[in-house]
Amino acid sequence: MRLTVIGCGYVGLVTGACLAAAGHEVFCTDIDEKRIAQLKAGKVPIYEEHLDEVLNRAVAEKKISYTSDAGEAIRAGEVIFICVGTPPKESGEADLSAIDHVARQIATEARTSKLVVEKSTVPALTGVQLQRALAAYSRGGELKFAVASNPEFLREGTAVEDFFHPDRIVVGVEGAESAAKLREIYRPILERNFHCPVHSGKCPSGTAGELLVTTINSAELIKHASNSFLALKISYANVIADLCERIGADVEEVTHAMGVDPRIGTQFLKAGLGFGGFCFPKDIQAFIHLSASVGVEFDMLKAAERVNKQRIDRFFDKVHKALWVIKGKRIAVLGLAFKANTDDIRFAPALDVIRRLLEEGAEVHATDPQAISRTKTIYPQITYHEDPYEAVKGADAALVCTEWQVFRKLDWERAGKLMARRLVIDGRNLYTPKKMQELGFDYHSFGRH
Ligand SMILES: NC(=O)c1ccc[n+]([C@@H]2O[C@H](COP(=O)([O-])OP(=O)(O)OC[C@H]3O[C@@H](n4cnc5c(N)ncnc54)[C@H](O)[C@@H]3O)[C@@H](O)[C@H]2O)c1
Repeated sequence: MRLTVIGCGYVGLVTGACLAAAGHEVFCTDIDEKRIAQLKAGKVPIYEEHLDEVLNRAVAEKKISYTSDAGEAIRAGEVIFICVGTPPKESGEADLSAIDHVARQIATEARTSKLVVEKSTVPALTGVQLQRALAAYSRGGELKFAVASNPEFLREGTAVEDFFHPDRIVVGVEGAESAAKLREIYRPILERNFHCPVHSGKCPSGTAGELLVTTINSAELIKHASNSFLALKISYANVIADLCERIGADVEEVTHAMGVDPRIGTQFLKAGLGFGGFCFPKDIQAFIHLSASVGVEFDMLKAAERVNKQRIDRFFDKVHKALWVIKGKRIAVLGLAFKANTDDIRFAPALDVIRRLLEEGAEVHATDPQAISRTKTIYPQITYHEDPYEAVKGADAALVCTEWQVFRKLDWERAGKLMARRLVIDGRNLYTPKKMQELGFDYHSFGRH
């Protein structure tokens, strides 16, 4: 099928690349002309494992193309996936201006009827507004625009794998025709009939993802309800960690034993610096806002958000206790990305940590395998090191902010010899306290002794 993808960010590029790999012809466009020029020159503007490989292959097979002419892209596809950003406003409400802009463009530029699919994360009832905007701006009314919601559940860091091997594909539709079209688009993925770059064609056996057909309102709600639930789980684990610290229990032992119960599950029960990124913080805010706007107070989510915001305070309590004065100290920050295996620093806890360190007069030396260049645009005044051992050289303390494998495997015996003082404050519980203490470190983490 001929498909259009509007918005070439994390979601748009993964969607476009994977649907091209599944055999469709994909036309991508973005308002950012520089981004399109980069893509045309064969450069992938984001770091996501396997993405460059899938995109290069799709380009070579002429399955994907890029244009900054939105009209051209809109006319080319039978189905249009909207993948633009939906950032939070000051109030926490989702800013849907990019969706609105795209709706007007589709309505005015299309020459044939289209199925318009929301892939961006949007609050419930956006589909209704989208349908209204498409009808209001279309010329003459002879064109038919169907709207569908197909929320994206990929995780940055494993996005390509998640797209090819989903647990579920949710399609919210108004009628059988849209459902059939979306089923056809995802058929190769549901039937595992594509070249998988992650498993080199030998995907593990097991059940393929399920296609769940719902109403548009339900599909929109499913995405926010899922993300908010995961965010709740993380905040829950963080409060348990605080409790463990007070009563002398070990949060890893507690959450592991909790998670063995299949009704609970072990995932998203990691205590630490809390959640960041372009999904959880903004989606939880948008969900709180949407709930209040329809008269439902979602206090539980407000508490989860508050707990998450307090993680940085808790982290700094540990820093102050261990280091005493921060002013004039050389501090190594290990990890900038909001999580491992991505270069995404949006709402990353490390950025808050750096801001606080600078406010208190520290000399900051930061390292990250992928996110240095993005962070430099926000904090040009700090020193960056590709090599983590260079980052910790002469440091009075090392603060761990991202759970990269390279940090997990750091040789602390070697790092300790380079540091001015053997002090590690670990915001991701990467190391065993006993081992760090044996190496002579003053070691602090969350919920453990
Ligand atoms: N990043 C994730 O892990 C993830 C996962 C699931 C869902 N989502 C949701 O998907 C959406 C996109 O997220 P993302 O991380 O890909 O964002 P992003 O910022 O990486 O990408 C958005 C892209 O849209 C482009 N854009 C903005 N306005 C446009 C317009 N009017 N016309 C054309 N292009 C426009 C931007 O230039 C940018 O390239 C958001 O709603 C997000 O909540 C993100």
